[in-house]
Amino acid sequence: MDAEAGCREAFVDAALYDYEYRHRRADINFYRHLAQNRMEFVPGAVLDLACGSGRLLVPLLRDGHEVVGLDRSPEMLAAAARKIRRLSPGRRRSCTLVRADLRGFAFRRPATLAISAFHSVQHLHTDREFLAFLRCARGSLRTGGWLAFDVLPPDPAWLGRDPRRRWGRTTLRHPSTKQRYVYTANHTYDPAARLLHMRLYYQPVDERGRPSGVERTVRLCHRQFRPDEIVRLLQLGGFRPLAAFGDFDGRPLTGDAGAAIEQVYVAVAV
Ligand SMILES: C[S@@+](CC[C@H](N)C(=O)[O-])C[C@H]1O[C@@H](n2cnc3c(N)ncnc32)[C@H](O)[C@@H]1O
Repeated sequence: MDAEAGCREAFVDAALYDYEYRHRRADINFYRHLAQNRMEFVPGAVLDLACGSGRLLVPLLRDGHEVVGLDRSPEMLAAAARKIRRLSPGRRRSCTLVRADLRGFAFRRPATLAISAFHSVQHLHTDREFLAFLRCARGSLRTGGWLAFDVLPPDPAWLGRDPRRRWGRTTLRHPSTKQRYVYTANHTYDPAARLLHMRLYYQPVDERGRPSGVERTVRLCHRQFRPDEIVRLLQLGGFRPLAAFGDFDGRPLTGDAGAAIEQVYVAVAV
């Protein structure tokens, strides 16, 4: 299974990405609040690490922050750039987009806050890769700066689902081509590498729902993280964990299996 392809394929069609996640707002609201509160005390730039198509970056710019967005997908960055072009000249000037890898980047001017939203760090598949990311983030933040990110809690029942079945069947219309698709998904879990290999299937269908073309498979691969691993790696990477939430509503992250919907971390650069 190609883990690297699982970090790229879902981010080639930015229009489809934006359409599929158009209702995902809780994380954006959470990070906007965090940025607002942080900037009140320590003004400075926000780094959006793996900014994608600008789902969070654009609201941060609209809130008046100076934002540097980093991603390695040219398609996602192009989508972000198109949205930024529609903002006022002042907001546009407050934004820089950089094509770079989470595992090796550096910014000269230390930022106040770095955010890596929507499970992006789960594309860092080994401790070594996650640590490389943390060290780059630490090097790009002032001492006392904050790093915030989220990962999905590993759910044994979900990981162990039958990989031969298809789940989550929905019908959608591509926002640009207007082609109708039936979407389904399944996955295989590799417990040794702790990698979840997801497959997202897009079957073109006609207006009556009948298959009308070749099904496309998009691979998506996520590392599974336990809270204790994240805390240990944060410390090794130059951070002190500040808060851990079990969802974007701010509920605490407890050891209670199944209680967390997301794992959301805020850490301070030491
Ligand atoms: C789920 S998307 C999240 C995008 C954005 N943060 C959001 O909230 O919509 C994951 C993003 O991580 C980026 N990505 C994955 N691996 C990366 C890497 N090694 N370096 C830089 N970006 C990466 C992808 O290109 C994609 O834009």
